[in-house]
Amino acid sequence: MYSARMSIYNTFKFIAFKTDPETIHDYTMKMFKHLPHTAKVLPRAEVNPKLALSDGHMRWDFPVGLAAGFDKNAQAIEFFSRLGFGAVEVGTVTPRAQIGNDRPRIFRMPEIRSVRNSMGFPNAGAELILKNIQNTKYKNVLGVNLGKNKTTTDQATGDDYDFLYKKFAPVSDYLVINISSPNTPGLRSFQNPESFRLICEKMEDSRKEVKKPLYLKIAPDMEKDDVYDLVDLAKEFDFAGIIATNTTIQHNYGKGGVSGDYIREISKQVRKWCCEAAREKEDLSVIGVGGVKNIKDLIEFWKDGGSFMQVYTAFIYEGPKLLQQMQTDLLEHLSLSGANTLQEWVDELKTTR
Ligand SMILES: Cc1cc2nc3c(=O)[nH]c(=O)nc-3n(C[C@H](O)[C@H](O)[C@H](O)COP(=O)(O)O)c2cc1C
Repeated sequence: MYSARMSIYNTFKFIAFKTDPETIHDYTMKMFKHLPHTAKVLPRAEVNPKLALSDGHMRWDFPVGLAAGFDKNAQAIEFFSRLGFGAVEVGTVTPRAQIGNDRPRIFRMPEIRSVRNSMGFPNAGAELILKNIQNTKYKNVLGVNLGKNKTTTDQATGDDYDFLYKKFAPVSDYLVINISSPNTPGLRSFQNPESFRLICEKMEDSRKEVKKPLYLKIAPDMEKDDVYDLVDLAKEFDFAGIIATNTTIQHNYGKGGVSGDYIREISKQVRKWCCEAAREKEDLSVIGVGGVKNIKDLIEFWKDGGSFMQVYTAFIYEGPKLLQQMQTDLLEHLSLSGANTLQEWVDELKTTR
């Protein structure tokens, strides 16, 4: 059965890697939308209660989630949940639909198991994405990643995030402020503490009305002091945590941000700073993303004090067997650790740092 599942996936990958990345992505997302049960014929991580993890704000059945940008329009939440992801983060969604930057805008870099993209938040807009979420029959934890429209002025940027928070807080388990995409002009300037503060202030009333864990997703291209400043602000405004990191612009490959193996070390460093800065701040969690591909990444991150992790690029190269392998390795390490549950083991790892 395992090898039959593997060969279905390997055949798919063989064809997919001969096709334009965005074309095949759009095609498969449509298939996953209409046939969510196809997840059953692929290698997947079966739910195992021992592997649940909590960061104090939410509980995932499995400690690895799907990163933002894969299911931009919330079409295939059920498929990815059935595959075994602990959480699916949809979006980035902007208030109004937009087409994004010119194609081609996704480039595979197989020799370094990385991807470059310059997408610029193409998405169907808040109204339609909300409907897709409401029509989803089965899901694990759902995150919604929020971004501003390209045409929104700097002054009105806080209004975009506030509008999106109000719209999606009632239908999601957590939300993410994305000010770290390199493909929307000027967006990253909102990582400047004064600008970020303006967004936070704009959202204060809505957040009091509907309380949902809110995370801030940051770029890997930051200095240590800037990371510390943002962590301080996130705490001041009662964020649940930080998601580190988005794609990097530290490369010479062309326009856009690079993800995957190429950003593994850069991301890891920024995650470490986040964990250090968050250590004295009770209840501030760090979610790790960027070059994550195996259980070593998870263990290292947990020792630093991190919580959940997310994947994007490794999932493109490895497919669903990535999750299955992580699950097998986690269960093996768990039994060696002597702990009964992953939660127990992760709590223990934190205290040994
Ligand atoms: C094609 C592509 C599109 C992405 N779109 C988004 C997005 O819309 N919003 C977002 O927050 N991150 C987006 N990302 C970034 C990922 O969520 C993730 O932070 C980054 O790729 C690093 O993780 P990885 O190395 O596992 O890919 C995108 C990444 C890729 C490769």
